[in-house]
Amino acid sequence: MSDNTKILVTGGAGYIGSHVVKQLCDEGYEVVIIDNFSLGLRQNIDSRVSDVIEGDIRNEADLEKAFAHNVNAVFHFAAWKAAGESMEDPDKYAKNNICGTLNLLKYMLKFNVKNFVFSSSAAVYGNPQYLPIDEKHPTVPENYYGYTKLAIEENLKWYDKLKGIRYAALRYFNATGYDVKGRLNGREKNPANLSPIVMETAAGERAQMQVFGNDYDTPDGTCIRDYIHVSDLATAHVLALRYLNEKEESLVVNLGAEKGYSVLDVIKSAEKSSGRKVNYKIVGRREGDPGNLVASSALAFEKLGWKAQYSDVDTIFKSMKNVYLG
Ligand code: WQD
Repeated sequence: MSDNTKILVTGGAGYIGSHVVKQLCDEGYEVVIIDNFSLGLRQNIDSRVSDVIEGDIRNEADLEKAFAHNVNAVFHFAAWKAAGESMEDPDKYAKNNICGTLNLLKYMLKFNVKNFVFSSSAAVYGNPQYLPIDEKHPTVPENYYGYTKLAIEENLKWYDKLKGIRYAALRYFNATGYDVKGRLNGREKNPANLSPIVMETAAGERAQMQVFGNDYDTPDGTCIRDYIHVSDLATAHVLALRYLNEKEESLVVNLGAEKGYSVLDVIKSAEKSSGRKVNYKIVGRREGDPGNLVASSALAFEKLGWKAQYSDVDTIFKSMKNVYLG
């Protein structure tokens, strides 16, 4: 293990953060978490984590405490991520996502921490001008959440140039699934994303779910997305840290499975893995939904040797079954 072994993970109790923390612990890294538990769950925190700071990236005293641990790198997941809400309350997203990250960078410089793995999003691209979407695609976010991720990436370019921060911005497509080894079961509260809603419906917690439109230019008329298993995301984050340590240059890559599934494909897979019927109703389109979003992850393969392994819908829904159906 290289000497860069102590990692500060912001939002480490959250859905993606907790999966990446497990991967870091599995690979022998020492992990410190800072989380304000607005979305994160204590039950998702790996017992191998060496310290958990209940704190907020908007609070400089909390960051002082976190950086007192003399970490060698930061993995940054703490953010609000509801695209619809970001259009209602941009200030909430600006203060937390953008200003919170700038606070973090200030403390990284104060404590001479130079490696930064950043949870970015395919939302930076907005509506696709071509498919599959590669990293050269124009970045014209359609929602303020996606803009906050792009604004952070733009700042990281300057912090690299001016202060030598080496960053890996990982642009996730549609993160989904649960730890393939079944070690995490804390569920997101009030999910807005498709796969948890489908599983809540399969479990009978929702009487009926809505399918937002079946008049898109796709084979079955429903929207196509690139669902990436969270365990695949986790391995990519550790490979990204190794890249930063070895190459000492920054990186921006897509993380997707390079395969698209429609909403009805997802529902059928959930029914197959759960053995339950998913009751749904086709309603009108949701504003701002592009019909088809699929990633090219060729650059992640070239730079990191990373390729999705668990992101077929059957594996995804098998990994969700116990979390939702016990
Ligand atoms: C997927 C598809 C819906 C719910 C969002 C954020 C993006 C990123 C991932 C963080 C769409 C349809 C959904 C439902 C439905 N977040 N759907 N009924 O919109 O692709 O991306 O999450 O990085 O920034 O925008 O994901 O899961 O909300 O929707 O029909 O009850 O499922 O219309 O086509 P989306 P999603």
